[in-house]
Amino acid sequence: MDHFVYREGRLFAEEVPVAGIAAQVGTPFYVYSAATLARHYRLFDEALAWGPHLVCFAVKAASNLALLKLLGEMGAGMDVVSGGEYRRARAAGVPGERIVFSGVGKTREEMRLALEGGVRQLNVESEPEMRALSQVAVALGVTAPISVRVNPDVDAKTHAKIATGKAENKFGVPIARAREVYAEAARLPGLEVVGIDVHIGSQLTELAPFEAAYTKVAELTETLRGDGHDIRRLDLGGGLGIPYARSNEVPPLPADYGALIRRTVGHLGCEIEIEPGRLIAGNAGLLVSAVIYAKEGEGRDFLILDAAMNDLIRPAMYDAWHDIVPVTEAPAEAARAPVDVVGPVCETGDTFARGRPLPPLDEGDLVAFRSAGAYGAVMAGEYNTRPLIPEVLVSGDHVAVIRARPTFDEMLARDTIPEWL
Ligand code: LLP
Repeated sequence: MDHFVYREGRLFAEEVPVAGIAAQVGTPFYVYSAATLARHYRLFDEALAWGPHLVCFAVKAASNLALLKLLGEMGAGMDVVSGGEYRRARAAGVPGERIVFSGVGKTREEMRLALEGGVRQLNVESEPEMRALSQVAVALGVTAPISVRVNPDVDAKTHAKIATGKAENKFGVPIARAREVYAEAARLPGLEVVGIDVHIGSQLTELAPFEAAYTKVAELTETLRGDGHDIRRLDLGGGLGIPYARSNEVPPLPADYGALIRRTVGHLGCEIEIEPGRLIAGNAGLLVSAVIYAKEGEGRDFLILDAAMNDLIRPAMYDAWHDIVPVTEAPAEAARAPVDVVGPVCETGDTFARGRPLPPLDEGDLVAFRSAGAYGAVMAGEYNTRPLIPEVLVSGDHVAVIRARPTFDEMLARDTIPEWL
């Protein structure tokens, strides 16, 4: 459920008409609903209320400081994967003890940043990384709390580009080798083992792969405890999917996911951490864009928008489906005709949807892409020298631009022409 609804034919973000925001900030832009974001965080928090837990928002999904601050003030932890994301979480006021540092290639510099600034744990993904962390911690005279990310070799049954838990993927250490890795962790100075970490992929629409992975983690917990390790936390990653197309299958709810976690690992008495990103932010954001032209092609019609693949890469990159809806609702009797919805970038890949049935739309009309709050703005780029588009946050009847559109002067000023040219 989200807070983007039509009232008398006009699309609202909470109490604010989307067309009004467009008039104020110009298109294209992202708009987030604070109530939706908060609601989704709470659903996870409640789903794990049966035991000690921390819901760590995956910052990679949506990293604007305002969004992080909103979640952080509700008690959320953060899952970060770079020094940049760590700085964002801290700048949003999240204390180090609520920040989990994940990522397959943490540099020594990033390790230092986290250890000096405070961190709940670092999720280590390989032996070389673990040895580097040990050296960095010793040099700083501190102890680094670690979980080892294990690769459970489970098929997440999602898009190949976002599946991470198969043996062939670059993530984690093979679960079969976990005992050796934990034994080395215990021997290395400057490290303190606190738990186990696993994350098998994103946009999962079934619980079975989670169940398979968490069952393996439960067994591993007992084995490692038998080996003398103090496994007191389980970081179970993120990955619960969202409904992108209203008509398609409905992924499991956070409550079902929480019950599954309880069933598979609840008996171990561990503190549970999860790292959801998409389910918290995805349906809390829209991408709003205006039609530049409606163009008749050879046997097909095109709707050329002012948003493009550089603003929302998911359709081009994963063939992802986003519902596209008119900001002013069409009358029920209006005919819907299939159109290709495209951006103005000079690539055929700059296509949001093919043959999408839409009511008649013309120059200046506004459309909204639903489910664009996660992996939308964060994956945007400036291809074709298109400025990063603004982000807007709505809460009730409050509206704030939380990232302004840069001017072209600002963009050009980042380049330097060497004096010898
Ligand atoms: N934890 C780790 C270690 C991750 O790698 C990820 C996502 C998450 C948590 C959050 O997963 P979520 O709950 O959001 O599914 N750009 C792609 C998604 C990439 C996901 C990468 N890792 C997309 O637009 O679909």
